[in-house]
Amino acid sequence: MDNKKLTQAKRRQERRQRFSAGLRDMAAYHPAKALIPLAYLVIVALAWVNRAKVLTPLARGNDLIYHSVSLSLLLVALILLPEIIIALGTPKRSAEIQAALIAAGFVNSARTPPMLFSIRRAKEQGYMYEFDPDNIPLSHWEKDKEKIGAALRCRVVSVKLSPDGKRMLVHGISMRSTLPEMVYWKDEYLSPDSFVLTLGVGLLGNRETINIANTPHILLGGSTGSGKSLLLKLLLMQSLQKGATVYIADFKGGVDYSPAWHRRCKMVFEPQSLLATLEDLTSELERRRKLFFTAGTPNIDEYNETTEANLQRYILACDEVAEVLDTTELNKAEKKLFVQIVRQLSLIARQGRAFGIHLMLATQRPSANLIPGEIRTNLTFRICGRADDILSRIILDSPAAAEQIPPDSKGLFVTNMGQTFKGFLFGDSVLEQ
Ligand SMILES: Nc1ncnc2c1ncn2[C@@H]1O[C@H](COP(=O)(O)OP(=O)(O)O)[C@@H](O)[C@H]1O
Ligand SMILES: [Mg+2]
Repeated sequence: MDNKKLTQAKRRQERRQRFSAGLRDMAAYHPAKALIPLAYLVIVALAWVNRAKVLTPLARGNDLIYHSVSLSLLLVALILLPEIIIALGTPKRSAEIQAALIAAGFVNSARTPPMLFSIRRAKEQGYMYEFDPDNIPLSHWEKDKEKIGAALRCRVVSVKLSPDGKRMLVHGISMRSTLPEMVYWKDEYLSPDSFVLTLGVGLLGNRETINIANTPHILLGGSTGSGKSLLLKLLLMQSLQKGATVYIADFKGGVDYSPAWHRRCKMVFEPQSLLATLEDLTSELERRRKLFFTAGTPNIDEYNETTEANLQRYILACDEVAEVLDTTELNKAEKKLFVQIVRQLSLIARQGRAFGIHLMLATQRPSANLIPGEIRTNLTFRICGRADDILSRIILDSPAAAEQIPPDSKGLFVTNMGQTFKGFLFGDSVLEQ
């Protein structure tokens, strides 16, 4: 009984809130909507004035019937007025969004999602979603931007309280509406810093970048045709322009790479030579460790700066790492080789950052255990293109890519650092320069 009363009280409160949201929506943002209740009132008034025409023949001269029927109809008409305003205070997608918020786990202590009052075009770009803060502190809203974005199917760029403190204003931008179909790479986008790589155009027209001095290793995912090979190439192309040495591990013989790539990069076609390459890289890592220790510098950038040396970065890339590391069909001796490969990869993943040795690994396979845990945890920068829920969770640890990237899109990505971007397109002729 108590529970029932509570739900009833909650429903009443919700209706009151939706009523005032409807009124405010009309007054502040959509004055045209006020025409709906006004038109309704006009119709009711006209019906009242003309009621005699319809009701007199029905009442057949009985005044009591005439007055009670007309008063009842007026009452019903007036009761319906707040319903119209409540409907105006209930955004079209609100039930769906509320359910999505529950699914995403963004709820208050009573396990209910905050109520959505209105959706309107934001002054800048995208939409402003107006919620009841519902006792959820601002810090939680900010921490869970990704979850909220998933429910709203957009990227949340900011969350703030309304000036009166009664509403939470969530500014979201949908990818489809703002990102261009194609954006072409220009040489001027190449960052002058050796550790900054440019990814693409962000939702606000900005350029999104990655700092590989902070997040040295990249895990890139996306289903076939999502644009991940091209994005990997974009990162490798910039690394080459900055003077890095790039290794590409590809057991299919490098067919996806034009001759320019074969010329500029060191291609690794077999497991045995991959192991040899990794051993070269880890011994370079040890050599640098001693150099940096002697010079008293903590990392490659400071070492280069203080000693005026020009140590270059090394990048090991693999486009289909799940295929390369898949050992299911191998014999015992081959498996042993892979154990060594994984050991070397782990060492680079754990320690490569300071020494300028980086991994960029891509996969389309939605299988979590193909990349060993100790490597995975050190691939701290995650990028995911169009993907299903499983792949998105494997790459980003969240369903963001599955929920935010439209199914037919190419070159659209989200990162675990809260970036959304369209990758730059470029032709291999850039490599000829
Ligand atoms: N950044 C992008 N912008 C526009 N189209 C792209 C972009 N990246 C890739 N594409 C298109 O998608 C196709 C597949 O890209 P690709 O990188 O081979 O995908 P994947 O490796 O994920 O299968 C490309 O041939 C290209 O036409
Ligand atoms: Mg590919």
